[in-house]
This record gives sequence, structure tokens and C-alpha cells, in this order.
Amino acid sequence: MATVLNNLGHRDLLLAGAFAGLGLFAIYRRYNSSSSTSSSDSVKVSTGAEAPSSTKPALAARSSISPQQHEPGEWKPVQFDYPTIVPSADDPRNIRPVPYRPFKWGEYQVMMGLRTMPWDEWFELDEQFEHYYRIRENRLRTRGERLVQVLPATPGLVNGGHDAAAELVQEMAEYLSRRYPTMYTVKRNESASDSSGWYGLPSIKEITIIPVGKTYKIDEEEPMALAGMLAQDDIAIMIEGSDGQYYLQAGVVLIPGMWRLQDKIGMSMDDIHISGTVPQYDSKLKFGMNRFFTRMPLDKPVTRANYSFQVVAPPDIADPSDPNELSWAKTMKGDEEDEDNKPGYLNAKDDAPYESGGGNGNPAVISDLANSTSAVNPSLVRMRVERETLRRLPRTGAIIFAIRTYQTPLVDLASEPEIPGRLASAIRSWPEDVAVYKARAAYESVLGYLDKQYAAQVAAGLTSPLGAKE
Ligand code: HEM
Repeated sequence: MATVLNNLGHRDLLLAGAFAGLGLFAIYRRYNSSSSTSSSDSVKVSTGAEAPSSTKPALAARSSISPQQHEPGEWKPVQFDYPTIVPSADDPRNIRPVPYRPFKWGEYQVMMGLRTMPWDEWFELDEQFEHYYRIRENRLRTRGERLVQVLPATPGLVNGGHDAAAELVQEMAEYLSRRYPTMYTVKRNESASDSSGWYGLPSIKEITIIPVGKTYKIDEEEPMALAGMLAQDDIAIMIEGSDGQYYLQAGVVLIPGMWRLQDKIGMSMDDIHISGTVPQYDSKLKFGMNRFFTRMPLDKPVTRANYSFQVVAPPDIADPSDPNELSWAKTMKGDEEDEDNKPGYLNAKDDAPYESGGGNGNPAVISDLANSTSAVNPSLVRMRVERETLRRLPRTGAIIFAIRTYQTPLVDLASEPEIPGRLASAIRSWPEDVAVYKARAAYESVLGYLDKQYAAQVAAGLTSPLGAKE
């Protein structure tokens, strides 16, 4: 099917692309253990420079390129020896979502929480692929001009995002077709002189996503939008400027929940986080994050995870196309179209929307949340885990920040051994600035429910009461 690309002007942007046609126990332990998560709870910071030998990626010959070898903003394409990607043992349609539970008993600390990313885990796909694809395709079709953005160069400061987006699509097609051969097939260009693909192969001209029966001719698609349809992740492209800062020069952010690409596009990494009032950014994150970006090599991708909670609308008034508010947390944040809707978990124009009964969210739900004596029904609370990955591309030097959102109903979490106790402990441990940022007031009434569930588990011998002391 031919792709329809709408070049829609938006603010000062050159291009806002919208498509009409674009249309495990070990694993469980790794991500669920209260002592080994990559959360922002009290977990050791890793620079990503070293991996435990068990998780080291299998690289062919490594091309360790030190980013210090270039002047800021002047990346020269480099040859990169790509790793061997091991095909997934299972078809993603048979893979349950990875149960990330990145919260800990007790103390919460703001930190980067980076860990080495094995190459085989760049994009994680699972049985929810088709569900995500439908929501993402609908978002792209109906709101693509806002949710997909590619900036032109700012002369003298930073390159535009288009070339990096085009490089990314090739990288994703190479990776996905190797990692999930039962989900994707690719066709390559036939020119003998084209050796720009992985391992010196010709570049990819066509990719088919088998379960949704969709074939994309890469040259005919707007690359940033196509990147958003290939996997389940939202993607931000960060490009180094001549001042050494990294700028958000392109992105496809279809299911962000609580922030909007249109509010962040073109910003430096500092401004992205400061405008979102990320707690303790200045004191705990800014220096390390900027240094990490400056030094990030090609062959050491990293990953991190965070978690948050949202209250969703009751089933009788929920939007049937996205009843869990995966794409946009309307009950928490109000109307996505509202020009005054500010980044952050709460709408910044309200001082205390939940306590005052104000806010821009669904009035019926917000007024319930506002009433501290009326507890929010636990069945309306969802945990959002963002599994984020970072890797640098060899040709443009851009850093790809991919965000995979996992959503889990609180009542499901509460039935997992130990989890309600650990979760309640984590929520109680947030310092005030974190509690405000994560809008705890909107759902803290579920703490009693979590306590009861945990007590019942202990009484039934399903978990040990000692967890709280660890
Ligand atoms: C080393 C890399 C990064 C680290 C350690 C980091 C850290 C954080 C932290 C701690 C938060 C608060 C929520 C949480 O608990 O995670 C946050 C929020 C956020 N980050 Fe990052 N971040 C990184 C890279 C990026 C990049 C490259 C982008 C580009 C789009 C980005 C965009 C955001 C946005 C949009 C928010 C939400 C802010 C808001 O509420 O408005 N982050 N980040």
C-alpha cells in the first residue's frame, strides 16, 4: 500500500510526518529481584562499561571507537563490526511480557541506574505486539503530525534528525529480522556496490512484519515514522551539538503516557529533564548523564528501567480503543490536546489537583481522587514500567533512546508473591519531591489494599515477612 506522507508545519519544525498507510525464570529473577534491578530505587549505578561475564554480548571483532576522538558535533562515520545476533528461541507471539518489577524494599534513591544491555535484547517483543501495533498505528494515523517529529539542522549548533532516523531504520531492520526471524522478513537492494548493511551486505529495501501482514518499502516511508511501527518502543534521537550538549532532534513518541514530544523536541537533555521537574536532576543526574552521553562508545549499549502509576477511567466511560490509557494517561493528565498541558506527571498549572478537586483530568474520576476519604478502586490503578535502552549509531553518531512501556494492573501485581509488600514499602519510601513527581496522592489510598494482600500472603505461607527488613 502506498504511503501517504503529510508534511505538516508545526511551530518551527521542518517536518512533522504523519502516515495514513503506516499503518522465564532466569529472566524473572534478573528483573524482579529486589537486589538486582536497574531501577531508580536504591540500585548500584553501573556506568555500562563493564558487564558481568554472563551477560556480555557476543561481539564479532569489536570496533571500540572512543567518542573523545572527535570534536563536539562533528562525528565522522566509522566502520563498526556488528555483533552476532542470536535468534530468539521463541516466536514473540508466545513470549509473555518480561515482568519488570524495578522497585525495592525501603529506601528510594534517585540515580541513573544504567546497566549493560546484551545486544540480543535491544528490542523486546512479546505476545502484546499486535495490540501495541494497532494502538500505535491508530495514533500515527490520527495524531502523527504531533507524535512524529524530525527537526532540520540548527546551523552552527546541531545537525538535523533525518539522517540518523534513516540510519536507525536500517539498523532496526537488520536487528529485528535476525533476532525474530519468525516475525520479520527483509529484502535487500541488489546493487553489487552497496555494502552498507550489516556484515558488508547490501542495505535493506523492504521489511515485512509477518503477524500484521504489512510490508514497508523503506525508501518510500518517512524513516522516523517507520521506526515507530517496527517494534513496540517509542524512540528519541539525541544528536550532539557543537556545544557538547545532546539535543532531541527527532522522535516517534506514540504512547508516552504523561509527556508530549511536541513539548520536548529540540531541547537539550538538561532542558528535557528540568522542564519536566525531574526530582534531584541537578544534584544527582545532570553531571553523570551528560558525561555518559559524551563518552558513550558504539559497542556498549545500556538499559535502565523506571516505574510509575496511573489511575484509569472506569470501564463504563473508558475509551474502547485504549481502555488502559496506554497511549495517554487522560485520567491523570487531562486532555492531550490542551495547549496548557504541561510535562510531568501532574499538570503543572494545578498546584494540587487531587487535593483540591481541580485539575484537567476526567472530572468524574479526578473528583473521586480528590476526596481523600474516597479510596480509589485498586482495579483502576496501573503500573507503568519503562524499559529504556541507549545505543550509539556508527554513521551519524546519534544516540538512540528507545522506550518500551509495560503496563500491569495493580491487582495482578498484588497477586504475585512478595510484590504487594515490596510495592507498598517502595511507595512509602519515596521522598516528598519524588512523591509529588509521581503523583502519589492520586493513588496512595491503595496502600491499605497492598498491605492486606501482603499480610494474606504471609499468613498463607506464600512469602516471608522478613522481606521488609532486607
Ligand atoms: C542516561 C540517560 C537518562 C537517564 C538516566 C534519565 C533519567 C530520568 C529520570 C530519573 C526521570 C524521572 C522519571 C524516572 O524515574 O525515570 C526521567 C524522566 C524523563 N526523561 Fe530521562 N533520562 C535519560 C535519558 C533521557 C533521554 C535521552 C530523553 C529524551 C527524550 C529523556 C526524556 C525524559 C522525559 C521526557 C522524562 C519525563 C519528564 C517529564 O515528566 O516531563 N530522558 N529521566
